[in-house]
Amino acid sequence: MPQKPVRIAPSILSADFSALGAEVEAVDAAGADWIHVDVMDNHFVPNLTIGPMVVKALRKHTRKLFDVHLMVTPVDPLIPAFVEAGADTLSVHPESGPHLHRTIQLIKHHGKRAGCVLDPATPLGAIEYVMADLDLVLVMSVNPGFGGQAFIESQLAKIAALRKAIDALGKPIDLEVDGGVNPQTAKQCLKAGADALVAGTAVFAGGPSNYAANIKALRG
Ligand code: DX5
Ligand code: ZN
Repeated sequence: MPQKPVRIAPSILSADFSALGAEVEAVDAAGADWIHVDVMDNHFVPNLTIGPMVVKALRKHTRKLFDVHLMVTPVDPLIPAFVEAGADTLSVHPESGPHLHRTIQLIKHHGKRAGCVLDPATPLGAIEYVMADLDLVLVMSVNPGFGGQAFIESQLAKIAALRKAIDALGKPIDLEVDGGVNPQTAKQCLKAGADALVAGTAVFAGGPSNYAANIKALRG
């Protein structure tokens, strides 16, 4: 299966939170493919960010796909609320369990795209038996919780291994990378086989007049 054209998903974690609607409109106009929303609970990860009410409020500011990255545990009780709020892809960490297969089925039951997120230390095997049900696999190239961290190089081998696994399966599963993505590391990720890139710092640097150039620079 040919690799898809790269999709860029700005992470609004690095946006101006006092003007989120305008920020989403600005990255949309600047060429973002998806809008990445980092949901953190101060429990699964040591930070507290965005809930379904904010996603609902942002929904009227863009028609682009909302790529919602759930860093919360327990995750299942929040899925219906994010679906209702307008999430398109819902991605979960296997560790946010307790039953990953059930969580994926819950997302699919709501007619949404299901993703699994692999932390830097989480092996491919964690999703081996659910991979065929997925629409997206997200490789964390930093430990989840904060923007602005350095890219962890060891994850390139994981991206390459996932590229092979997805191609062997023959299903159109998106292969996304999140954390420390900048024009240099973006190139490495694309070479390893990624076809979607999350970027916070690298997209929002310099304010709205830079967003189009920042996004373009990530396309390789
Ligand atoms: C980290 C988040 C990332 C983060 C990326 O837990 O999942 O989406 O916002 O930020 P940068 O691109 O600055 O590393
Ligand atoms: Zn994220």
